[in-house]
Amino acid sequence: MAAIEMKNIVKKYGDGFPAVNDVSIDIADGEFVILVGPSGCGKSTLLRMIVGLEDITSGELIIGGTKVNDLAPRERNLAMVFQNYALYPHLSVYENIAFPLRLAKASDEEVDQKVREASKTLELDEHLERKPGNLSGGQRQRVAMGRAIVRDAQAFLFDEPLSNLDAKLRGQMRTEIARLQKRLGITTVYVTHDQTEAMTLGDRVAVLKRGVLQQLATPRELYEQPVNLFVAGFIGSPPMNFLPATVDGTSVEMPFGTVEIPQEKADLVADHAGKTLIAGIRPEYFDDASVLDDAKLSSGSTFRATVEFTEWLGSEAFAYLPFEAPEAVQKQLEQLEKDLDGESLRTQIVVSLDAASTVAAGDEAEIWVDTAHLHIFDPETGDNLTLQKSEETPTQGGKHAEAPAAQ
Ligand SMILES: Nc1ncnc2c1ncn2[C@@H]1O[C@H](COP(=O)(O)OP(=O)(O)OP(=O)(O)O)[C@@H](O)[C@H]1O
Ligand SMILES: [Mg+2]
Repeated sequence: MAAIEMKNIVKKYGDGFPAVNDVSIDIADGEFVILVGPSGCGKSTLLRMIVGLEDITSGELIIGGTKVNDLAPRERNLAMVFQNYALYPHLSVYENIAFPLRLAKASDEEVDQKVREASKTLELDEHLERKPGNLSGGQRQRVAMGRAIVRDAQAFLFDEPLSNLDAKLRGQMRTEIARLQKRLGITTVYVTHDQTEAMTLGDRVAVLKRGVLQQLATPRELYEQPVNLFVAGFIGSPPMNFLPATVDGTSVEMPFGTVEIPQEKADLVADHAGKTLIAGIRPEYFDDASVLDDAKLSSGSTFRATVEFTEWLGSEAFAYLPFEAPEAVQKQLEQLEKDLDGESLRTQIVVSLDAASTVAAGDEAEIWVDTAHLHIFDPETGDNLTLQKSEETPTQGGKHAEAPAAQ
């Protein structure tokens, strides 16, 4: 097991396009870090550079204190689990797990001991004599992990290992991988484009956009303190709502009306008074005002809006409220949708309503919003102007990170 340090890593393919652009991430020994972002953002490229399948154009890669830029994959002693598991169909599960040990000419005794230990951890004991072709996707996944475990690798690297599985199995495997990683305490880097996977698995999550690291933070921090529009829009489902807004003191004017924000937030955006900004509020910070008690009502602002349609999910309901946006904001939101690989244009907000709400399509409803959770973004740079800077929230290197080396 080992720490992995990436220092200003750049990857330019033949055509000169920087697929990974100046990425620095420190991964502590035993930490579980997720690389997440839309298709083509450079996740697999970065992972392949760590494992040694792809040359590093510039920057340093340090594993367990040793610079490994020029080491062959074999010498790095990392275990990579691919999307297609790459199992040998003609070998039994036992021999598939044993494969790296056989290659290393381990004794039969050592092979047997290690394979049985791995199979016990992975609950594969009853499948050891079967062939991979007869196993379920989840079982094959575990065999692939077994092969990684027996190698005593310094770290596990996963590239979208669950994307071939159906939703239910994906959920189960997600829990299983998280449990195993904790039990084995092995440093793990895991690539996914699925933000739910990223949020539930990782100690920390690195969000990438077009090869550039946007934010590296715990799931909670990404959710509550996104550094920019991209991270805010990428993390969370249903996604954060974005609305045009202008600020005047503690008043924020939005298409549905004017709401009041806390003084600390107002101070952070005071320099931007009068400009058209973008407000961001997650669906759960809205509600149907008619079902709330006075204490909750007075903790936020309310506005009236016409509900276009509703979706009732049992434990909660979502209502869709359309709005008009000025052209400049509209353009910015369209660009954001493209960056996020989305297809819908967000000229509506989605609000989550209490299950007790009876608001229906076509109703004009009084909607409550918790403005303490409102973010305000600069439409030109995308930066979150209301980021709370009190805690340490560096873009690169979170609380697990080692002190950055002097450069
Ligand atoms: N062998 C290659 N030659 C040239 N360009 C490449 C090569 N491999 C990847 N790229 C480019 O590098 C960028 C990053 O690709 P990468 O495969 O790392 O993305 P990704 O984040 O893993 O995407 P996905 O979610 O689709 O797997 C893309 O623009 C891609 O076109
Ligand atoms: Mg990929």
